Amino acid sequence: MASRAIFVPAALFLLLLFSTTCKAQLSSSFYESTCPNALATIRNSIRAAISRERRMAASLIRLHFHDCFVQGCDASILLNGTSTIRSEMEAGPNRNSARGHQVIDAAKLEVEKICPGVISCADILSVAARDASVAVGGPSWTVKLGRRDSTTANPDKANSDLPSFRDGVDRLISRFADKGLSARDMVALSGSHTIGQAQCVTFRDRIYNNASDIDAGFASTRRRGCPANQGDGNSNLAPLDLVTPNQLDNNYFKNLIQKKGLLESDQVLFSGGSTDSIVSEYSSNPSKFLSDFASAMVKMGDIEPLTGSAGQIRRICSAVN
Ligand code: HEM
Ligand SMILES: *[C@@H]1O[C@H](CO)[C@@H](O)[C@H](O)[C@H]1NC(C)=O
Ligand SMILES: *[C@@H]1O[C@H](CO)[C@@H](O)[C@H](O)[C@H]1NC(C)=O
Repeated sequence: MASRAIFVPAALFLLLLFSTTCKAQLSSSFYESTCPNALATIRNSIRAAISRERRMAASLIRLHFHDCFVQGCDASILLNGTSTIRSEMEAGPNRNSARGHQVIDAAKLEVEKICPGVISCADILSVAARDASVAVGGPSWTVKLGRRDSTTANPDKANSDLPSFRDGVDRLISRFADKGLSARDMVALSGSHTIGQAQCVTFRDRIYNNASDIDAGFASTRRRGCPANQGDGNSNLAPLDLVTPNQLDNNYFKNLIQKKGLLESDQVLFSGGSTDSIVSEYSSNPSKFLSDFASAMVKMGDIEPLTGSAGQIRRICSAVN
């Protein structure tokens, strides 16, 4: 009798222990004993890259997003094409657009010098996004670590799962919901478009269609750098935030209220739909935006990581071992 009274709770305890270790969690102290200088080393490398080119902060934040939305935060976006791997860089949302790979490769080179084979490329991407935010006046947050790197890439998934600049608000909400992110997370994360640049091909239709959801003066300014003819000047750049393009602040939301969102997918967040109230809130409460942005970035970094013995720690971020 006594042995059974002990056995049942003990078995339940083991079951609980097993089920929690199976669903391994990321942890901010993951490299504390195996590579205590990892985060400082990554930070130095990222800071140097951003001081060479300020836009790189935007590019790195976007690279983490485009990684996480395609088979989870597993550095799949960093893999070059080979005879067996089709690179995600071939996919529409990434081709001639996603950038920053070399910066991650360089940071990886530095951490390999101090702790070979320990730090994953997926974690470097996540830390880099946080360091990039800080470098352009955005919030800081504690990055959870312990992601491992994929041995595969999936350009078809990149095409199907990454949002399009033509998406309406309901489509955007459902795409983010598919990744476990709320409408509020989606709006806060779209606030990334307070930094960085977009190419003419992504906003041409919006600035030439004389629609009622764009400020006429803003449209005419943007037309000067983006010719009307399809194909002309497709890669010409314009800042996503016309006021403070290098500062991670809440200006993006003020722009939307003035109908000065650059992309259609920006303006739909404030066009009489369900997310209008969130845009208004962030436009008038900068600190609320910054703290929601930080928590949404942490949630985004939690999308389907490879942990435990899944995947690998790549030696070079652009190739599997
Ligand atoms: C809500 C749906 C979203 C859509 C439709 C979208 C679309 C785009 C497009 C079309 C560009 C311009 C790319 C180019 O012209 O080469 C861009 C740039 C950018 N996106 Fe998004 N995006 C979205 C959400 C996000 C999120 C969630 C983040 C980050 C968490 C993000 C971060 C950025 C950044 C920082 C840039 C500038 C990149 C640079 O200058 O290199 N975007 N986005
Ligand atoms: C927009 O307005 C301009 C100037 O009034 C005009 O030349 C152009 O044809 C219009 N475009 C569309 C798509 O209606
Ligand atoms: C991946 O491609 C980049 C750019 O073409 C190149 O610099 C890098 O060396 C490649 N990586 C590998 C492992 O071949």
